[in-house]
Amino acid sequence: MRAVEFQEYGGPEVLRVVQVETPEPGPGQVTVDAAYAGVNFADLKARAEGYRVGSLPFRPGLEVSGRIRAVGPGVTGLRPGQEVAALVDRGAYAEVVVAEAAAVLPLPAGVDLRTAAALPTVLPTAHALLHEVGRLRAGETVLVHSAAGGVGTVAGQLARAAGAGAVYGVVSSAAKAAHALEHGYDEVFTEDAFTDGVRRATRGRGVDLVLDPVGGDTLRRGLDTLAVFGRLVSFGNASGAPPWQVGQPELYEGGRSVAGFSILSLARSAPEELRRLTERALRTVAEGSVRVPVTAQFPLADAAGAHELMGGRTSTGKLLLRISG
Ligand SMILES: NC(=O)c1ccc[n+]([C@@H]2O[C@H](COP(=O)([O-])OP(=O)(O)OC[C@H]3O[C@@H](n4cnc5c(N)ncnc54)[C@H](OP(=O)(O)O)[C@@H]3O)[C@@H](O)[C@H]2O)c1
Repeated sequence: MRAVEFQEYGGPEVLRVVQVETPEPGPGQVTVDAAYAGVNFADLKARAEGYRVGSLPFRPGLEVSGRIRAVGPGVTGLRPGQEVAALVDRGAYAEVVVAEAAAVLPLPAGVDLRTAAALPTVLPTAHALLHEVGRLRAGETVLVHSAAGGVGTVAGQLARAAGAGAVYGVVSSAAKAAHALEHGYDEVFTEDAFTDGVRRATRGRGVDLVLDPVGGDTLRRGLDTLAVFGRLVSFGNASGAPPWQVGQPELYEGGRSVAGFSILSLARSAPEELRRLTERALRTVAEGSVRVPVTAQFPLADAAGAHELMGGRTSTGKLLLRISG
């Protein structure tokens, strides 16, 4: 079968199509004949700097949709031919993908394979950030960084559907601002001006919840935008800054909290919890309160094109690789 891998770290050009043996499912696993794979910022971090790689060669890809090809020993409730979406630890850039059965979900009615490939990472992540971790209540205000990207596009809509008092976003360009404003955001700020923007928009009060995938200086400035009893959830480090540390001085004043979330860590430590959370989140798509817009699609062999688009900070919504179907 064909897969896309890299043998060395670098730019999009290190992604190569390779012919490899078709995998078989082990105990508790299934294999999926892939239709589409979603592209995530974590795939770019893996390729460029070895984020979560371990050893080379490495096959990126965290999410896939397709039809179950084979079912491993001990798997119940899934059968060959069934249309599914799955979150995987790695390896979704391939014609056949191995997935843990606990992370495989039959497609809800009305969700097609193309949409399904865009859901397994960003939908449960945005839901967890707002609800399970961020504990958003109706009427509260939210600030989301990287608001026009995959997670950000979903977070804006979910926050609005949850009755947030106002939803603010941070983006790097005017085109991204327009996209965010169409997906749940009331007002959008640029990175250099978001603290002033929040102060003005909230008349000095600050926001109740900040979702931060950037880290570093952005995270520190995000703490300054929190209202009394505000919460900040860290869920990434796009800036590449050294790991942050927050202590007593920043938190005692105003009774602030800082929390964290990683969907891949949760998939390892509490797969059943993640499954329930994903099912809750999927309802919002099946019911139509959230749309996950696919804004560009590339053939598997041109995974580099997708990485170039996202790495150039011009992508909005979700990018997909078309594998078959
Ligand atoms: N913890 C988790 O479970 C989890 C799960 C999924 C994603 N994430 C994180 O969430 C973020 C979004 O992921 P995604 O896959 O949906 O990607 P994405 O948002 O579609 O694309 C990448 C985003 O990163 C921003 N960005 C790129 N380079 C940056 C830089 N040097 N400094 C600051 N921001 C930069 C861009 O926004 P602007 O150009 O507007 O700044 C862009 O929106 C990523 O940081 C990712 O690692 C975390």
